[in-house]
Amino acid sequence: MVVKDIFVTIWRFEPPFGSRPCQHQGVHQIFPPPATEVDPDDVYRDERPLVGDRPWLMMNMVSTIDGVTDIDGVSAPLGGPGDKDIFGTIRTLPDIILVGSTTAVSEHYNPPSTSVSTKARRLANGAWPVARIAVVSGQLDFDLTLPMFQRPAQRPIVVTTVDADPIKLERVTEHADLIQCGDTSVNLLQALRDLAELGAQRVLSEGGPSLNGGLLREGLVDEVFLSVAPLMGGGDSRGITRGDIPPFQELILRHVLTEDHFLFLRYTQAPQASDTR
Ligand SMILES: NC(=O)c1ccc[n+]([C@@H]2O[C@H](COP(=O)([O-])OP(=O)(O)OC[C@H]3O[C@@H](n4cnc5c(N)ncnc54)[C@H](OP(=O)(O)O)[C@@H]3O)[C@@H](O)[C@H]2O)c1
Repeated sequence: MVVKDIFVTIWRFEPPFGSRPCQHQGVHQIFPPPATEVDPDDVYRDERPLVGDRPWLMMNMVSTIDGVTDIDGVSAPLGGPGDKDIFGTIRTLPDIILVGSTTAVSEHYNPPSTSVSTKARRLANGAWPVARIAVVSGQLDFDLTLPMFQRPAQRPIVVTTVDADPIKLERVTEHADLIQCGDTSVNLLQALRDLAELGAQRVLSEGGPSLNGGLLREGLVDEVFLSVAPLMGGGDSRGITRGDIPPFQELILRHVLTEDHFLFLRYTQAPQASDTR
């Protein structure tokens, strides 16, 4: 049976880092077998076609073993050097990085990298040379002096509702391009369609859990990257999605990587019988 085989593979896997904590000694793939050192750029590269008239939607989150996704409002303390590298690799995949306003503010989002090496990696993945940030917000209460709004050559996109406050809208348009869809809340499917009209083929949600919950509820999540940090946090663990639970969606495991006692899991939607993807 496949599941048993996976666990046997993991059980027999000899960790390359021994018992020492946090050694940055290369990323190893333990599933599919055989366990081998890999270049993350290679293992994350894949076909990610449009899904109908919307972009392919990926989600990337880091969580402790018990589901904690932030410490004092930020996720950085959950990561490590290996996790940072994988985060950077995943960021070379999408045209658009989608983020909820709470995360964009609390994590102090910056304009995405424009370095020559990042551009080259992104082009190899078939992505735009530079990713664009798209911030989802109904209230538009964020601070427009945040770094992501301060580089005119890299205007972010603000995704909001059609009935958003016109005065706030006017302020926002000085620093960002606008997508408006949905009345009381953003219609996330329509937002993705509008991003596809801008030419985006792949969108990466970097959370937080509320935005992810909305995407999951609408059945819009095609691929999930989950970094499991070797930590237990306790407290009010909430997981990587939040909100009303939709019927369970089945995913299939695509790979398991490990470095520094972290697990890097990649799942995609299980193909449906009627799927044309
Ligand atoms: N562990 C990780 O990988 C990870 C990743 C990301 C974030 N985080 C953590 O998660 C926390 C924030 O997550 P969160 O769930 O509280 O917030 P969030 O998902 O980042 O943002 C929620 C906000 O996004 C806007 N929004 C989302 N969906 C919307 C829709 N359909 N229509 C209109 N607006 C919508 C609303 O903004 P307005 O209020 O402006 O209307 C809402 O209040 C932070 O502490 C962050 O550090 C962790």
